[in-house]
Amino acid sequence: MKILITGGAGFIGSHVVRRMVKRYPNYHIYNLDALTYAGNLENIKDIESFKNYTFIKGDITNAEFLNSLFLKYKFSSVIHLAAESHVDRSIIDPLAFVKTNVIGTVNLLNASKELWKDDFTNKLFYHVSTDEVYGSLENCGLFTENTSYKPNSPYAASKASSDHFVRAYGETYNLPFIISNCSNNYGPNHFPEKLIPLFINNIINKKSLPVYGDGNYTRDWLYVEDHAKAIDLAFHKGKTGETYNIGGFNEWKNIDLVKLLCKQMDTILNRPGGESKKLITFVKDRPGHDLRYAIDATKINEELDWKPSVTFEEGLLKTINWYLENQEWLKNVTSGSYVEYYSKMYNQKA
Ligand SMILES: NC(=O)c1ccc[n+]([C@@H]2O[C@H](COP(=O)([O-])OP(=O)(O)OC[C@H]3O[C@@H](n4cnc5c(N)ncnc54)[C@H](O)[C@@H]3O)[C@@H](O)[C@H]2O)c1
Repeated sequence: MKILITGGAGFIGSHVVRRMVKRYPNYHIYNLDALTYAGNLENIKDIESFKNYTFIKGDITNAEFLNSLFLKYKFSSVIHLAAESHVDRSIIDPLAFVKTNVIGTVNLLNASKELWKDDFTNKLFYHVSTDEVYGSLENCGLFTENTSYKPNSPYAASKASSDHFVRAYGETYNLPFIISNCSNNYGPNHFPEKLIPLFINNIINKKSLPVYGDGNYTRDWLYVEDHAKAIDLAFHKGKTGETYNIGGFNEWKNIDLVKLLCKQMDTILNRPGGESKKLITFVKDRPGHDLRYAIDATKINEELDWKPSVTFEEGLLKTINWYLENQEWLKNVTSGSYVEYYSKMYNQKA
């Protein structure tokens, strides 16, 4: 099987690529990534010499490039993760999200359809999406696969649109697809602009911890390797044409999460109890901020026997330890010197 994974130098993509390369030596994994600020080849340097792995630098917004790539490598499946993924950035520049998340996805769908059109047997377009497409919940209820879409941020709207295009290509052209919508991920290799890695970095450096609004926003959190495992399972055993919700059965108010993080880090860093908590500051709310997301992951649990393997406390400890053991990685992504790593590794300009 020749699998194209897009966005494999990013946070979740790197865990999916590593898992697939290591678990399936008979597959060839092609990792296509434009290496934007969020893409970092250091995330996957441990597998770059594997024989069943090829990295391709390229942009999914370039249709001509994609078509020639599909003709050259004749992929049998696609696992699509490449995206602009940060809500705050989408508020500043929505069009960048339309370009990558919508047009980029349609370009990939077109290239897949063109290559596979004579025989869809054993072909699959697996689309990785988010629970944010469903909008916001009040204090009770859960998102199921049948919840109607009601995206509130430009990021969520662009992902919702990409989901609709994937489904439409299934209905219109019979393109075999699976979509999964997952809750907030956390874990190693997360770019430190998102809550957990940002706050770990700030606690290490005794910088303030800016919590939006009153801190009562609620999210469901899933350890990134459990998401990668769910994608692997749904890719191999899921039913085509179906959606699977993936979540951690693990809801936390932001403020409670931050307090837990402070407590765990004070212990690990041998700081007096309560020291890091003093760094918390409340800042002006994000516009259109969704109050609560919560996923009902019963379908993937019952149909594919998937469930998270770690508790939040365990996953958070693993994550903190990873960041403490990989300060060089943290320094590099915050200084941008991973761009030099690319030039060195591949002997060309990033
Ligand atoms: N992070 C989460 O909590 C979460 C939760 C649910 C779903 N998702 C979805 O999972 C996917 C991966 O998310 P992530 O957090 O790993 O994102 P990320 O921002 O860490 O990584 C995205 C990757 O895509 C690449 N990329 C961006 N634009 C590209 C383009 N035009 N062409 C080729 N590559 C490009 C980047 O270089 C980067 O490596 C996204 O589709 C996201 O919507 C994320």
